[in-house]
Amino acid sequence: MSENHLPPVTQYAIRSAHGDAPGKVILCGEHSVVYGYPALAAPVSALRARAVVEAGSPGMGLRLVAADLGETLILRAAPAAHPLAAAARLTLTALAAPEPDATLTLRSELPIAAGLGSGAATAVALIRALGAYLGRALDAETVNALAYEVEKLHHGTPSGIDNTVIAWECPVYFIKGRAPGLLTIGPPATLLIANSGIPGVTRVAVAGVRARREAAPARYDACFARMGALAEAARRTLEIGDFAALGALFDENHALLQAIGVSLPELDALATAARAAGALGAKLTGAGLGGNIIALVTPAAAPTIAAALQAAGAAQVWRTTLGEGKAEG
Ligand code: PMV
Repeated sequence: MSENHLPPVTQYAIRSAHGDAPGKVILCGEHSVVYGYPALAAPVSALRARAVVEAGSPGMGLRLVAADLGETLILRAAPAAHPLAAAARLTLTALAAPEPDATLTLRSELPIAAGLGSGAATAVALIRALGAYLGRALDAETVNALAYEVEKLHHGTPSGIDNTVIAWECPVYFIKGRAPGLLTIGPPATLLIANSGIPGVTRVAVAGVRARREAAPARYDACFARMGALAEAARRTLEIGDFAALGALFDENHALLQAIGVSLPELDALATAARAAGALGAKLTGAGLGGNIIALVTPAAAPTIAAALQAAGAAQVWRTTLGEGKAEG
């Protein structure tokens, strides 16, 4: 075929493409990770964000539909700082591809502003779907780098832990600015994730910690250093399956998160209810000021503890198994 017969680059051969990404939980070390200490996180594979791109009519450009929010954006007209528009633009730039005439629809099973990585999962699903539509399956490293740029729009100064655990979809040992390490899970660990139903905005929580640290640096730096030590210890307990020790580390991490001002009475009540019903330990997960707690439980006690969490006001409770990548509603 001569060059004249090649289709123009805007006419993509692929008519539709999908991309998806899991949610995540931070097991230990949120907030201190922003200050260079290690943290541990794991994907929640059963709670996912999904994106589908479908070919549209010539000249329409790229339309972004956030189906759960009832929001539609025309890429050309969307503000630069809009995270979905930014994810799309970054992907097109990275692939040196012109804007396709298509509709990209996003759906997510993850609660928003709840510390389960909804923003990063949505970005990763979008980037993957758009890449696939453009005929380019992007590797995890590229997806991660693009999603990190989007996270900066959401959060200002993110450590990068969310996009990393979500793009790679495996448990990670994470230190800001370094290549992520694999977190080895020995015997599977059962967690309950309980949603307070209160939205917690990561940017606000992180900015609050930063401001309070400026007023009392020694006290905050001591908390962060201890949180980093807890993450190191938790890493070892996960390798060998010492769940009694891991539970105690969760409890201490929660107390430190209270001390830096990111818990809420509702989160404390959920953690207390889980412990009283037999959890080995419990802590808030993610930025706090709302969102979720995680409780380490035995499989046998999980139903009783889930019921106790619901009775204590949890809007939703999920069960997930670290080391098996499973979660149930
Ligand atoms: O997005 P969240 O709520 O999971 O919070 C991210 C974890 C923080 O350590 C609070 C912030 C960061 O950038 O690591």
